[in-house]
Amino acid sequence: MENGHPTTRYSDPLERLRELDWDYAGDQSDSRFSSLHFYPGRLISQIPAALIGSLSKTGDWVLDPYCGSGTTVLEAQRLGRPAVGIDVNPVATLIGRAKSLPVSGSRLREVLSVHLQRILSERLSSGSRQSARCYRIPESVQGTKWYHPETLFELSLLWGYIESCSGIVKHVLEFCFSSILVSACNETRHWGYICDNTQPLSTRYQSAYALFEVAIEELCNAYEERDRRLKTAQNLPRVKFECGDAAHKLREYPAEQFGLVVCSPPYFGVIDYVKAQRLTMEWFGHDLQGFRQLETGARSKRHRLKAFDEYISDVRTVFVEVTRTLRSGAYCCVILGQSTKRRETVPELVKTLTDAGLEMKLQLGRHVAVRRRQQPHIGDETLLIFKKP
Ligand SMILES: C[S@@+](CC[C@H](N)C(=O)[O-])C[C@H]1O[C@@H](n2cnc3c(N)ncnc32)[C@H](O)[C@@H]1O
Repeated sequence: MENGHPTTRYSDPLERLRELDWDYAGDQSDSRFSSLHFYPGRLISQIPAALIGSLSKTGDWVLDPYCGSGTTVLEAQRLGRPAVGIDVNPVATLIGRAKSLPVSGSRLREVLSVHLQRILSERLSSGSRQSARCYRIPESVQGTKWYHPETLFELSLLWGYIESCSGIVKHVLEFCFSSILVSACNETRHWGYICDNTQPLSTRYQSAYALFEVAIEELCNAYEERDRRLKTAQNLPRVKFECGDAAHKLREYPAEQFGLVVCSPPYFGVIDYVKAQRLTMEWFGHDLQGFRQLETGARSKRHRLKAFDEYISDVRTVFVEVTRTLRSGAYCCVILGQSTKRRETVPELVKTLTDAGLEMKLQLGRHVAVRRRQQPHIGDETLLIFKKP
C-alpha cells in the first residue's frame, strides 16, 4: 500500500485489506491537518486513506455521514475523490471547510501574513483596554470563568478583527481562533472538565496572540505539505461539508450518488461532541442545547431508559439513507468502538446495517495504543466492511 494507493498484487481488494496492520501502533497521523484543532474521537488518517485507496477509483464520490473533524473527506480529496462530509456539530463543519480549501499553501500564507501584520499593528495601537476599538465579547461567552482577564482582552481584540473580515479569510481566521480556545482557557486538567458543573482550579495567562500566530503558521504548513504530496493544488476534487443530522441531509442526495462510504459513527454513550466544543460554541453564539438534542449516542443521554434503543434507531435511519445513496456494488466501511462500560453495540449495529440492505463482507479488529485512546476504556475498535448488493 503506497500513500493510500493499492499495489497490484491482489485481485480482491478485501484480501489486501485483510493483510494490513490496522493498529498503526507506533504511528502518528500521516496528515498535518489532523492535530490543528481539538476534536475528540478523530480517526488516524491512514485508516480512511487505506480504505479509499483500495475500495474506490479516482473520481468516485466518497461520503462520511459522521465526518467530525473531516479526516475521511480530507483523505478523499488528497487521493483525487470528490467527497461529502456531514456532521450535526457546527464546529466539525467549521474545521472541515477550513482544512479543505482549494488554495495553495503559498497563497494562503501570503494572504494570512497580511492579516497577521494588521492584527499585530492594531494590537499595538489599541494600547490600553480603554482605547481598544475592537473590545467586544459576545454575551454567550463565560469570560471570567474560562479565561485570565488579560487573555480574554486579547481574545476580544482578535475576535473584533475577525468579525470585520468576510468570506474565506473570515472562515480561516475563525478556525484558527476556535483552535486556540482550549489552550487559552484556564482549565488545565482535561477537556472533559470544560463543562457547566465544574470550575477551573486557578487562572493562568496565556498569550492569545502567540497562540493565534502559531495556529496560522501550522495551518499554512499543513497546506504546504498538502501541496508537496499533491504536486499541484489546481485540480483538487470538489468537497462539501454539511451541518445537520445525517439522515436529514442525505435525503437531499440522489440515489446511487456515492462510490464509497467511510465513517466512524459516535460510539454509544462515550463522548458529548457538542459539549466538547463548548468554548467555540460560546464565542460563535451557537445554541448548545439545541445542537445537543440532535446528537446521536451522546454520553449525557446514556442513563435514559431508552437511550440505547434511540441510538440504534438513529443509526438505522442514517444507514437506510446511506444505502439508498450508495451505488450498487460499492463498499461501506464503518469503524466502531466499544466501551467496556456500555452495552455491546457491534452485533446490534451489524444487524442494523444488514437490515438496511447492506451485506457484511469483512470484520477486522484493531487495538488502539494506550497513548492514542480517546477514552481509557476503549482499547479495541472494529472495522466492518459492507457492500451494497
Ligand atoms: C466518532 S466521531 C467522528 C470522528 C471523525 N471520523 C474524525 O476523524 O474526526 C462521530 C461524529 O458523529 C457526529 N454525529 C452525532 N450525531 C450525528 C447525527 N445525527 N448526524 C450527523 N453527525 C452526527 C458527532 O458530532 C461526531 O462528530
